[in-house]
Amino acid sequence: AKFLLLNGPNLNLLGTREPGIYGAQTLDDIVQSLQQQAHHAGHALEAFQSNAEHALIDRIHEARTQGVDCILINPGAFTHTSIALRDALLGVAIPFIEVHLSNTFAREAFRHHSYLADVAAGVIIGLGPQGYALALEAAIQQTTRS
Ligand code: DQA
Repeated sequence: AKFLLLNGPNLNLLGTREPGIYGAQTLDDIVQSLQQQAHHAGHALEAFQSNAEHALIDRIHEARTQGVDCILINPGAFTHTSIALRDALLGVAIPFIEVHLSNTFAREAFRHHSYLADVAAGVIIGLGPQGYALALEAAIQQTTRS
C-alpha cells in the first residue's frame, strides 16, 4: 500500500521547538523511522512538511492521482483553524489518521477543537513520536485487511 505522511506548520522545528512539550526527536528522525517501518512491512511511505496551508492542500489533491491509500497527518495549528484542510481531505476521499505529539486536551482551550477529528478514521494524541508509529501500524492493518 501507499501512505502519505503530512506535517503542518512549525513541525520542521521539531527537536528544538519547545522540547518540553514536543520532545527531542527531529522531524527527519520521525520520517526516517516511519519510512523504515513502512518498508519493513512491504509498503511505501512519502513524507511532506509545509508551513503553508495551500501547499498541504495541493499535496492532498496530488495524493488522489498518486493512488495514496491512507494519509497520516499532523496538521499542527491548522488543526484548530482550517476548514480548507478538512474540505481537501473530504474532497479526495482518502482515509486519514490525525496525529498530535502533545496531549492537546491538556493544553489551552483553543487546542481542544479539531476541524478534522470527526471525519478522521482515527486520532492519536499525546504519545509523542510513537503516535506516528502507531498511526502507521493502524493504517497498514486497516488498509491491507481483506
Ligand atoms: C500539535 C498540536 C497543535 O496544537 C500545535 O499547534 C502544533 C503541534 C502536536 O503535534 O501536538 O503545532 O499538532
